[in-house]
Amino acid sequence: MARLKQQYEGNGFYGIGILNNANEFNVGTLWRTAYILGAAFIFTVTKKYKPQSSDVTKAWTKIPLFHYRTIDELKWNLPHSTKLIGVEMTKESIPLIQFKHPIRGVYLLGNEKIGLSENILDECESVVSLPGDSSLNVAVAGSILMYDRVSKIEI
Ligand SMILES: C[S@@+](CC[C@H](N)C(=O)[O-])C[C@H]1O[C@@H](n2cnc3c(N)ncnc32)[C@H](O)[C@@H]1O
Repeated sequence: MARLKQQYEGNGFYGIGILNNANEFNVGTLWRTAYILGAAFIFTVTKKYKPQSSDVTKAWTKIPLFHYRTIDELKWNLPHSTKLIGVEMTKESIPLIQFKHPIRGVYLLGNEKIGLSENILDECESVVSLPGDSSLNVAVAGSILMYDRVSKIEI
């Protein structure tokens, strides 16, 4: 008798988060977009965040937010076979337009004032930059990145 072959989703998953965020409002905005654009989870590194009443979509009921104390803890907890992608403006960054998103990816955004340091970028498999000569608000940058992912990989 022929065995039924199980079908699995082939579109992977992604998570997105901010290292050492300064402004809680940015985490809330990112969470809302992440839920709407199909992220599996969001996270913070070093700073904790509590859901706020301004989150009318109650994103906290839809996708989880994880807190990591350090970048090492984030890396230790990366899902199996999942790439860590830094999101930062540097000379070596891959322009988002050319970037091929990994099927399973975790995107790391930087602090509002100082961004991601060289040391942190060294921990990432790739670093991607968004168009423009000036830096964007971190939640806006994350939202554009997520839109780019969903427009290139069907969800
Ligand atoms: C406001 S920026 C940090 C400030 C920036 N490093 C500076 O020196 O002006 C906060 C974070 O948003 C993201 N970001 C903002 N604009 C970006 C861009 N054009 N490309 C990639 N990431 C960007 C990065 O993750 C960055 O660390």
